Amino acid sequence: MPKITYRDSFGESRTIEAELGTTVMENAIRNAVPEITAECGGGCACATCHVYVDEAWLDLVGKPSDQEEDMLDFAYKVQPNSRLSCQIKVTAELDGLVVTTPERQG
Ligand code: FES
Repeated sequence: MPKITYRDSFGESRTIEAELGTTVMENAIRNAVPEITAECGGGCACATCHVYVDEAWLDLVGKPSDQEEDMLDFAYKVQPNSRLSCQIKVTAELDGLVVTTPERQG
């Protein structure tokens, strides 16, 4: 199973084994990763699953959809590497992915 590392805003890292076909957000919630609240449950309608994708992974993760871009307008401290983690599907290619969570959501 692909491993994903979540770094929190205090610099602490947690690496979990993610299930293929799920999302980066779902794996965060299942593993009680802090700083991701995912209030809409993955519907791309809340922007409380915001993460920063590590630069080395940006190409593989890909660009946000138009709908995700619109929701990112509501996220806190958006950067060029910002994504909504409910919109990132876990694939074998993403084994080793590193994301950082912002100090707050929304
Ligand atoms: S969980 Fe609501 S936008 Fe991702």
